Amino acid sequence: MPIFDSHAHYLDDRFNDDREELLATLLNTTVCGIIENGTDAATSRLAVELAHRHEKLWAAVGIHPGEAAEAVPQDLAVLEALAADEKAVAIGEIGLDYHYDDACPRDVQQHWFRSQLELANRLALPVVVHDREAHEDTLRFLQEYRPAGVVHCFSGSVEMAKEILKLGMYIGLGGVVTFKNARKTVEVAAMLPLDRLLLETDAPYLAPVPHRGERCDASHIAYTAAVIAELRGISTEELLNITADNARRLYRL
Ligand code: NI
Repeated sequence: MPIFDSHAHYLDDRFNDDREELLATLLNTTVCGIIENGTDAATSRLAVELAHRHEKLWAAVGIHPGEAAEAVPQDLAVLEALAADEKAVAIGEIGLDYHYDDACPRDVQQHWFRSQLELANRLALPVVVHDREAHEDTLRFLQEYRPAGVVHCFSGSVEMAKEILKLGMYIGLGGVVTFKNARKTVEVAAMLPLDRLLLETDAPYLAPVPHRGERCDASHIAYTAAVIAELRGISTEELLNITADNARRLYRL
């Protein structure tokens, strides 16, 4: 099956014991592509290095809202230099996360979101956007900058999805769509134009049912795809083919 994992973090510690073997196995069997997302300057550099060790793995470089408090101004130049690498295909993971009370202050998150949207537009690269409980502000920034890209692990309403689609962006869905309490996400999965959908793991997090809570990897996308394919009345293989094409189109692979 042609699985394209459009959003993952295989640099996470949970892959320390078997990272290279696992990726080699996945990419030699059912997985036709992976986008590894940096979350700060250091992991962005490591993501580009990882991409050079695996032909069908590419990197997104960026400062995640959860890491924005530790970022320093020079990091923007580091990202720009990394983005010039042939295996760097996007600016990500960037965005806003208002979930945690003790999170990085919102104005600091917004500063980094804004400067990375500007960087992506200047370099003509797509963005990978993280939006957790920050739908209004995320949409406002995207409407202002109108970047190419994807809102990953989309958790907004059908109405918000329509606004994202109007901007020409893609919507990324992962294991959450298989969860019992995922009514809103299921509604979005049912209405999206199929040429705007990307499938993702967000590995090591958000493994789909029946592996919920376990370490997630790209092979688990088969379960997510089966649920969405059934909703859409097409075969899992057809959905995997369409979404892999979508990822190649967005990331210009
Ligand atoms: Ni992520």
